[in-house]
Amino acid sequence: MVTNSSQEVAQLKASLREMAMVGERADPLVFGGRENIIEDVMQFARRLPPTGPRGNTVVIDGPPGAGKTALICEIARRLSREGASPILQLEPPSRQEVADIYAQLAAALAGAPLEAGRTTTRREAGLAFRPGGIGAVASKDETVAPPSIESPLAVDNLRAGKAWQSDERAVVFIDEIQNLTSNRDADECRLARALHTQDRIPVLLVCSGLSNSQDILERAGLSRIGTGNRFSLSPLAVDEALTCARSTFDLVRNMGLPGSDKAASEWAERVAYACDGWPRHLQNYFNACWTTLGSQDTPSLDSADLEAAMSLGDELREKYYADRIARTSLPIEVLAALQQEIDENQSVTDYQAISSIGYAIDALPATTKQAVRHRFSSDAACFDKMLAVGIVSLDDRKRCVSPIPTLGEFILAEYAAGKR
Ligand SMILES: Nc1ncnc2c1ncn2[C@@H]1O[C@H](COP(=O)(O)OP(=O)(O)OP(=O)(O)O)[C@@H](O)[C@H]1O
Ligand SMILES: [Mg+2]
Repeated sequence: MVTNSSQEVAQLKASLREMAMVGERADPLVFGGRENIIEDVMQFARRLPPTGPRGNTVVIDGPPGAGKTALICEIARRLSREGASPILQLEPPSRQEVADIYAQLAAALAGAPLEAGRTTTRREAGLAFRPGGIGAVASKDETVAPPSIESPLAVDNLRAGKAWQSDERAVVFIDEIQNLTSNRDADECRLARALHTQDRIPVLLVCSGLSNSQDILERAGLSRIGTGNRFSLSPLAVDEALTCARSTFDLVRNMGLPGSDKAASEWAERVAYACDGWPRHLQNYFNACWTTLGSQDTPSLDSADLEAAMSLGDELREKYYADRIARTSLPIEVLAALQQEIDENQSVTDYQAISSIGYAIDALPATTKQAVRHRFSSDAACFDKMLAVGIVSLDDRKRCVSPIPTLGEFILAEYAAGKR
């Protein structure tokens, strides 16, 4: 489609600017790759209790920006398409959100209206969904105590023995699971345990978070999560990033951005190779493209400065890394020491990582060292912080690795620049 009128051009420029501004969103314009993981999780979601296995909780983990949230949103979309009921919780649930999740399960699996799980409810709803069928006595307009749908068993009871149909399936997703409270008695931990161990209703729990997610779930009492149930997100393969970039430029051309097939292909290739397959960077380079194109008098892939877009993408990427480094609140010397250790050995144990951090802190000038010791209770706490901001991550064998090669290079370059 060719945009001619000045109104169309103005509209296109506004859309490009808007696209650049919402670049941090979890839902990309085009979702790329991850097909094997999606298929595996969909398979888990097809074999559920009471006939399928229980305890099949799925853990999707990876460093910040790996695409965990985007992936669970994509799986939820596909589950919806095949008639299952995804329930998406973007952070560990509060007490009220736990009640809401049970209400959604009751609605999806037992036909209950969603109000059933609210804290106060009208008498009719309360009566209708009290599992034992015995409701509170209340006059017509009063609110009554919430119905006690607070376990998979209660959801099952609502069905009164009705047999399960194949499309009656629910998947509860909980993102940012690394933030789950360490209080095992809290409602959010009880919910996770109940969904993990239950064998009454067709529900699957899928948790996503940083690379320590499985440990966090084990701490909450979810035992024996199989290795086949853990999916650690690595970068997208080159062809996945390329397909995603091509489709994204095609989509934007369909929205009115002029450009030949040849130019679109060239822009897509440059973006796909520059991003190292890392979803966060893929979006950084897209943002740089939308910004560069949006600042043209008449945006077009044929005439816009691809090199300028790429160097803006490089800048955004470095800004992202600098931000990650700043978030550790640790001196670059400490990050570089661990990075060097990883470079020499490819991966290190957490014990090695923590001692390398300890040596590096000891070698700092006295006042800096004192500040770090004051800020962090231990070398292990420094390591936890580095994991939490994604400066390092844990691989399948729980060994400490660098999540992105260019991040490691950036840390070492910053360190070298500081010494000069
Ligand atoms: N498979 C993908 N294809 C295309 N873009 C993706 C993909 N996965 C993620 N993205 C994009 O990459 C960026 C980072 O993704 P997302 O927010 O899902 O990462 P995350 O792992 O959840 O990060 P965090 O740990 O910070 O929450 C987002 O802008 C998202 O749109
Ligand atoms: Mg996320």
